[in-house]
Amino acid sequence: MIHILATGGTIAGEADPASGGSRYKAGVRPVGALLASVPGLAEAADISAEQILALDSKDMTPSDWLVILAAVRRARRDPAIDGIVILHGTDTLEETAYFLHLTLPAGKPVVLTGAMRPADHPQADGPANLLAAVRLASGSDARGKGVLVVMNGAAHGARHLVKARTSGLDAFESAEAWTTARADGRFADLDVTSLPRVDILPGYAGAPARLIDACVTDGARGLVLALAGHGSVPAAWLPGLRLARDQGVAILRASRCAGPVTRNANADDDGEGWLTAGDLPPPKARIALMLALASRFSAAETQALLLRP
Ligand code: SIN
Repeated sequence: MIHILATGGTIAGEADPASGGSRYKAGVRPVGALLASVPGLAEAADISAEQILALDSKDMTPSDWLVILAAVRRARRDPAIDGIVILHGTDTLEETAYFLHLTLPAGKPVVLTGAMRPADHPQADGPANLLAAVRLASGSDARGKGVLVVMNGAAHGARHLVKARTSGLDAFESAEAWTTARADGRFADLDVTSLPRVDILPGYAGAPARLIDACVTDGARGLVLALAGHGSVPAAWLPGLRLARDQGVAILRASRCAGPVTRNANADDDGEGWLTAGDLPPPKARIALMLALASRFSAAETQALLLRP
């Protein structure tokens, strides 16, 4: 028995009449209608389904991640259910997948999928993705690998998956094969009603230092710096970052490039009291920091979490 949790996305998208059909609206088609359009689903597994959200994933918030986590935990506790498939928009799919990867211990498989084409497209990719996700969640291959994602005939582990292209069926890629992924679940005991606010600050030529103060004044408890190159901090930012650090705000150096940001390699992280993202891209480093702050991790524990492969 595979339990489907639907959250919206292009997989549930339909042409938007308000745009004269030139654009579509994500998260419109209900899960029952989506399942009815998947040939071979009934032969692949027994299916139950729940519509927990109906969002375009650009509008997904950390509160929504907690709603999804609660639904997965409930489904995992149900002895009749063997695996869970989550239908999700592709834009922030990698964020939800990584959040769940860190908060779910090894156990019944959890597989996310979505679509690049809306449900009413003549060559919609959603039905094939959904069927592949159900098959992966039903088999033994998914066990022990943590949260997985299936798109366009390929499986990915949640930690290394990124949406690398804006369009095309092959929008997703990962630096590591899913077969070597392993469950994390370091925050399996997470029991909160909200997550601490962490903002991402983009580094670019001439980026104003006042952005730092704006985030801190507005309540950020952590800042992820999505910097150029190997996490290069603009000199003009140093006074603002030191002030924020002295107010207890966690500062984390990440890069807008692919590849690792190595501790103390391009900045005095020890001296400044900064964290580094390792090979995590800024949106995923943000999630790790939010969970570490929520769980009152020490700086050393947070750094170890970020550097874990
Ligand atoms: C969304 O992320 O909800 C819309 C885009 C998509 O699913 O591809």
